[in-house]
Amino acid sequence: MITSKLSTIVWENLPKSDQYTFNLHDDFSNIIGNFKADQKKILIENPNEFLSMDSYDWLDELHLKLKAAPGFVLIKSGALFSNEELRYIYAFCCRRLGLLNNRYGYFFDVVDQGLDYTKQAIPVSKTRASTGYHTDSTAKEYLPDVVGLLCLSPGAIGGDSLLTNAANLYKHLLQNYSYTLEAMQAPIIRDVITPGTENSVEAIMQNAFPIFSFPNEGFTFRYMRYWIESAYEKTGQNISKELMKGIEETDCYFSSPQNYLQFKLERGDMLLLNNRFICHNRTAFENNALGSTPRTLVRSWINFQ
Ligand SMILES: [Fe+2]
Repeated sequence: MITSKLSTIVWENLPKSDQYTFNLHDDFSNIIGNFKADQKKILIENPNEFLSMDSYDWLDELHLKLKAAPGFVLIKSGALFSNEELRYIYAFCCRRLGLLNNRYGYFFDVVDQGLDYTKQAIPVSKTRASTGYHTDSTAKEYLPDVVGLLCLSPGAIGGDSLLTNAANLYKHLLQNYSYTLEAMQAPIIRDVITPGTENSVEAIMQNAFPIFSFPNEGFTFRYMRYWIESAYEKTGQNISKELMKGIEETDCYFSSPQNYLQFKLERGDMLLLNNRFICHNRTAFENNALGSTPRTLVRSWINFQ
């Protein structure tokens, strides 16, 4: 039943730092140090082919924190490792959780490319704008279970991470605005932004799926207000009153300070979050002055095996 699933994933209170923050296990210097050059190459270029039979209990414990509340972990590695070493460690941790997706590349560098997502249908990850609360992937046929972000450079100003819980939102709507839920559980069109796909009215009409769904008695929330509204605009459709109220209440709930966490990733931090019920956002950012390293995160999309 959905109620028993909800009880495992809702936040009773906003998670405290010691419930989700972990220091990278000391073993990692050795683990990475012992990899041969060909293993490192596989890990970065073809991570799903990387097979490690050893047991890493520490990582498997984190796995459990992703499946139920708090639904995310922040791994601190300190500033000891080079970028190359951080990428290997991150790739290893991601692969340990499941299979990586190659839609944007297994490891996609999230950096400002000077683009504007309000002027062309491109992922907000290529800009320096605030993203608004969202879950990753607007494509009907693909949903990552886990989103990973490795921070190589935090940038100068802004770029904070914000996290909130869609299971708490669902309870809130059920108690106070239950008349919005039928519309939010019906297929809803989304704009088509995946590189290499055609952005046409027909493609958008096909790209329809619910905000809330309960596959196999689980809980799945798929949301990004901007791409829902642009889909309705491009196809000349009207958003129903019930759906619009649900969307407005969603944004209102997520933006209340008692409902979200905010922190800034530091160099070497790895944030892993369950993309089925943890909804994320980032504040707009400015990069450092000329010549210094721009904000750089490495994103991965992972599916549990
Ligand atoms: Fe995202």
